[in-house]
Amino acid sequence: MSGSQILFADLLGDAIEFVKLPEQGCTSEVRKVVIPDGIYIMKSATKVKYREWLKSEAEVLQALSCQNSIPVPKYFDFIEEDDASHLLMSFEDGITLTAAIKNAGTMKEKQRLVRSFGQFINRLHEQKAVLKSETDWLETQLARARVYAESGQADGSLTLLEQLERVKPQKVKQTNIHGDCTTDNVLVVDGEVRLFIDVAGMTLGDPRYDESLAIRKIRDHPELLAFFYEGYTRYRVSDEEYHYFEEGLYEFF
Ligand SMILES: Nc1ncnc2c1ncn2[C@@H]1O[C@H](COP(=O)(O)OP(=O)(O)OP(=O)(O)O)[C@@H](O)[C@H]1O
Ligand SMILES: [Mg+2]
Repeated sequence: MSGSQILFADLLGDAIEFVKLPEQGCTSEVRKVVIPDGIYIMKSATKVKYREWLKSEAEVLQALSCQNSIPVPKYFDFIEEDDASHLLMSFEDGITLTAAIKNAGTMKEKQRLVRSFGQFINRLHEQKAVLKSETDWLETQLARARVYAESGQADGSLTLLEQLERVKPQKVKQTNIHGDCTTDNVLVVDGEVRLFIDVAGMTLGDPRYDESLAIRKIRDHPELLAFFYEGYTRYRVSDEEYHYFEEGLYEFF
């Protein structure tokens, strides 16, 4: 038994079952924790960079724990050990939108899913600001990107970063954003997108970043993109904006 399992054993009582989930991301290990009175998710990270992200995720979930306007898992605990951090949250039903689209038997079903994704993000962006921030989101992201690029922790090059710093898109009003709004990071229940997961980047920020990441897999599929925009009606990124965010900034995270 590892240290973290002992800690959570103290927290949750005896008779714990830990099941590694079949679907894993690249920054953490996610396990289902089964105890007699419920099911939880334990998300663990070991690399410094990813431990910082996990800590942000814990802070976001904690900040959102007394609201229900943005659907996210419920926060239970965050534990930092010497060489790993662990976030404990509610286990939520559903499958990722990536899996749901892959499993969909018909184009109509895929279109409904994509429209639901658009609606779900539209709601987040239109809602009154829940997570406050005094700073300019893009400036903060560019500064973080520089730290990652200079320490060799990013795919993007310093040349690309300098371009992004030099030519920025015109400012738009900051809104609630997810911050890593791909089809991997929302869960689908009964054919509808219902929940945001992986919320480390959720804050007040540039909604065009979410929109660009949301459409990255369907941009060249007009038969799906049109349905996304039936749900996401508030704005439509230009090609320049899309390139700036999806092929630019995202290269550093
Ligand atoms: N609260 C939850 N309830 C049920 N399943 C979850 C929950 N959180 C995560 N999962 C499952 O674990 C998988 C990975 O979770 P998540 O996206 O948070 O981690 P990650 O992908 O490692 O993070 P990153 O995208 O930063 O690499 C998800 O695809 C989902 O299947
Ligand atoms: Mg993820």
